[in-house]
Amino acid sequence: MRPFAGVPQVVAHRGASDDAPEHTLAAYKKAIEDGADALECDVRLTADGHLVCVHDRRVNRTSNGRGAVSTLELADLAALDFGSWKLRADAEEPAEAPDWTEHPDGADTSVLTLERLLELVADAGRPVELAIETKHPTRWAGQVEERLLHLLKRFGLDAPPAEGPSQVRIMSFSARSLHRVRAAAPTIPTVYLMQFVSPRLRDGRLPRGVGIAGPGIRIVRNHPAYIEKLKRAGNQVHVWTVNEPEDVELCVDLGVDAIITNRPRAVLDQLGRP
Ligand code: G3P
Ligand code: CA
Repeated sequence: MRPFAGVPQVVAHRGASDDAPEHTLAAYKKAIEDGADALECDVRLTADGHLVCVHDRRVNRTSNGRGAVSTLELADLAALDFGSWKLRADAEEPAEAPDWTEHPDGADTSVLTLERLLELVADAGRPVELAIETKHPTRWAGQVEERLLHLLKRFGLDAPPAEGPSQVRIMSFSARSLHRVRAAAPTIPTVYLMQFVSPRLRDGRLPRGVGIAGPGIRIVRNHPAYIEKLKRAGNQVHVWTVNEPEDVELCVDLGVDAIITNRPRAVLDQLGRP
């Protein structure tokens, strides 16, 4: 992770997902344009072995299709529209919601493969990091991590460069998933995501070999002393999903290392960053 003088890194959660439909090329292009330091994405494996950027187990919420990603093939997903739901959700009156295909970014809202996202990052013209989350449970546990590392290797991202930090980190709520990653690629940083503080981690230590804690913003609000404990134990802290200015301020006060947000431009502005 590239260090900044005293301010947290700004990570675009599912892309600039306040402005464009989450996990689409449109959302990631906007995040890069907005100046985000890193892009967060969730990955799932399709029935025919492709890693795609989709949050939910099923495609029902974010597309015009139905079914579990793990049982669909890439061609099935490619036939779906992953954009219009957002326009409908954002429109004050349902009748105002235009068809996403009429939107200037309409072409960029088909299903996004991780491979395409890696190409976008490679062509960004400036350093952009990636925070990739493996989603569990899944019928493809184990294979997700294997495919992910294989793909990262193709892009030369399966280990940090000779000089400088890793461009990629892998995150999960599943300690087992992170363990698989570390066993195969020990130099890729791993982030242990937390929705609550489990009693066995109260002393600020993380699962073996994990150096980054990923607490939800509620943990930060309710247990700021725990964040300090994590830092004292030598961990980095990457907080999700931080969209409100007062939460950004709290994260800065606590010295967190990365803020994961749906609004990268607004957070950069608050931090006084270009
Ligand atoms: O960045 C971590 C965060 O994305 C975890 O929660 O549900 O948004 O994937 P979720
Ligand atoms: Ca995520």
